[in-house]
Amino acid sequence: MNKKIIIGNWKMNPQNTKEAEKLFNDTTKSLYNIKKTEIIICPPYLYLDKLNKISLSSRAKKVKKVYLGAQNVFQGNTGAHTGEISVKMLYEMGIKYVILGHSERRNTEMGIGENNNDINQKIKSVFSFNIIPILCVGENFRDEKHKYLEFIKTQLEQGLDKVPKNLISKLIVAYEPIWAIGKKAERPATSSEFLEIKIFIKKVLSDKFGIKNIEGLRVIYGGSIYEDDVSMFLKEGQVDGFLLGRNSLDVEKFTKIANIVENENS
Ligand code: PGA
Repeated sequence: MNKKIIIGNWKMNPQNTKEAEKLFNDTTKSLYNIKKTEIIICPPYLYLDKLNKISLSSRAKKVKKVYLGAQNVFQGNTGAHTGEISVKMLYEMGIKYVILGHSERRNTEMGIGENNNDINQKIKSVFSFNIIPILCVGENFRDEKHKYLEFIKTQLEQGLDKVPKNLISKLIVAYEPIWAIGKKAERPATSSEFLEIKIFIKKVLSDKFGIKNIEGLRVIYGGSIYEDDVSMFLKEGQVDGFLLGRNSLDVEKFTKIANIVENENS
């Protein structure tokens, strides 16, 4: 069975390298007793190399070994693409994970309007370098006729179009309903709402790729998760882990959540 996983999405924080190093060091120290749970920190690009080096050099010390992930990547490997970062660059740096399709990037107002096809190109490119994509899916709102299920199905089918089926078990899918993310969130999803979607995601992917190929697939939850919700998600939601935004910037809260996951891991 795959380990449970906690991903910290720092988004566009903190504002300078010194603070990023401090946050990273404080986090890894505070998590030193976490053994069974995989931890991935996704900082802004600017800090990735430095933090990755710190992570590699600190193995012998009393800190948790965490993996570094990127928050996005460009789909092509070479060429004239101003402002972009290629998968090859991440690979050369030793980065193992990339968040793709976050709703803040899919957004057409504040984001860049990334669509399922863009995300699909990126996923194929990322897999070709043996990096693991964390694919974010989730609806804007829940309608009574359950059209949101169709929306998520399209995100999965188009986002994973022509991805080799033997790679699907490595994929991490993060269910992040847009209505539950960030400061403007209505509320977090409930554990039963999550479980409904986890089963749905697995059904869609097993229809597309075959049941055998989705065995190792992890479906995690993101959106306003606080320590009080964690046990319920583990017990009743059968969650494989969490993607944390705000609470990945707060070492104490992040550590509490990690410890609950660690202690309830069977
Ligand atoms: P939040 O963000 O935990 O701050 O709601 C989650 C996310 O956007 O990944």
